[in-house]
Amino acid sequence: MGIFNPPPGTEDILPGEVASWQFIEKNAGDVFSLYGYSELRTPIFEYTELFSKGIGEQTEVVQKEMYTFEDRGGRSLTLRPEGTAGIIRALADTAQQGGNPRVFYLGPMFRGERPAAGRKRQFHQIGVENISAPSPELDAECIAMLTHFLERIGIANASLKINTRGDVADRAGAGAKLREILAEKLDSLCEECHRRYERNVWRILDCKNPACCQVISSLPPLDALFSETSRSYLSRCLDILSKQGVAFEKDQRLVRGLDYYAHTVFEVVHSGLGAQNAIAGGGRYEIVPPGAKNPVHGVGFACGVERLIMAAKSEGARAIPTPRSAPVFIVSIGEQAKMLNFSLAQSLRASGVAAVADFEDRSMKSAMRAAGKSGAIFTVIRGDNEIQRGCVVLKNMQDSSQVEIQADVAAAEIAARLKGKDSLKDVLQ
Ligand code: HAM
Repeated sequence: MGIFNPPPGTEDILPGEVASWQFIEKNAGDVFSLYGYSELRTPIFEYTELFSKGIGEQTEVVQKEMYTFEDRGGRSLTLRPEGTAGIIRALADTAQQGGNPRVFYLGPMFRGERPAAGRKRQFHQIGVENISAPSPELDAECIAMLTHFLERIGIANASLKINTRGDVADRAGAGAKLREILAEKLDSLCEECHRRYERNVWRILDCKNPACCQVISSLPPLDALFSETSRSYLSRCLDILSKQGVAFEKDQRLVRGLDYYAHTVFEVVHSGLGAQNAIAGGGRYEIVPPGAKNPVHGVGFACGVERLIMAAKSEGARAIPTPRSAPVFIVSIGEQAKMLNFSLAQSLRASGVAAVADFEDRSMKSAMRAAGKSGAIFTVIRGDNEIQRGCVVLKNMQDSSQVEIQADVAAAEIAARLKGKDSLKDVLQ
């Protein structure tokens, strides 16, 4: 660990990578607004109780992964490990008055997990929440919106898995039945699953231990644990998706790691990612915000932005542009040239052309090397010689040809020459 490294599980997003982030964020906003969603921004930290109650005391996120601290006033606060609980808090009032807001959000989330490829301690989510009473149509629409977004950003090799957690009335009974089925197989389960058996039996279905996997794959169909109401709710949602041509796999083992889900749950996994292969997850939920009497119902999902970028790159995504570098680089030889070039750069910017003026006292050779590295389309060169003749040299960096142009019309001339040219390369770096 060097002093220039950020803490484990965090990373800098460098200028060369930011274009991919902006591309994803922009397309998320564009696609979600087609479905009537608007952006909502909530605080990065909240009262701890919001998460422990909202996500579930027995979940791994709450038990092991939260960044919790006491502030100077003795309040327990937590860096948000996910977005849903905060969004529900912010919308609880509107929801209690019968409103059905549709919102999307993006930003950093924090979980103290063991860092690995695709698993960060500070990661970023783009998510949506549709506050609404249970409705298989709205669940299907939410899932279709997710696939629409993934297609828009050029991710094709993803698989969508869908399951039900049963409605709230159904869940306790279904959990008891699952415990019954697993009781006689307990000896074959790992130590952690013994704990899960007591506290959160559904999480056993998620265990990656080979012995547990064997037990899990030998279980009878789990649909039978749920009521007819829950089963037909899921069938209707799946029916709609099939009719819309959305490809999915019904996965009876999908449980999700957060306790607020009821009815539909889903996850999108991508083959190009390795062990941490979930690029998005979500479902229908029921959350009672602290201080409220009634639960807020909704459906939503969140995508991990780091993982979306990894997935897009693994597919050689052409849709994500490389960063745009300034098309004009300006080299000054001498103090007077610096003054004049300061003005030239301002005039170019005023006409909408991005320009970088180099004011370092260095040799012509080293300034031209910097110009070459900058990715500019044109380099302007001005020294005493050009000043005397009232001109500047304009070098085309693509074919190395040079022309002299009159200094007083240089900005307009360069802007005209750049029309239709674009430094954007179509391929992902
Ligand atoms: P989640 O499945 O915990 O769901 O997270 C959603 C996505 O965030 C994951 O599929 C993954 O892409 C990304 N993610 C999670 N943890 C990490 C990590 N440590 N490093 C990198 N990426 C990560 C939720 O958070 C729910 N709030 C989603 C939701 C919204 N459900 C209903 N509405």
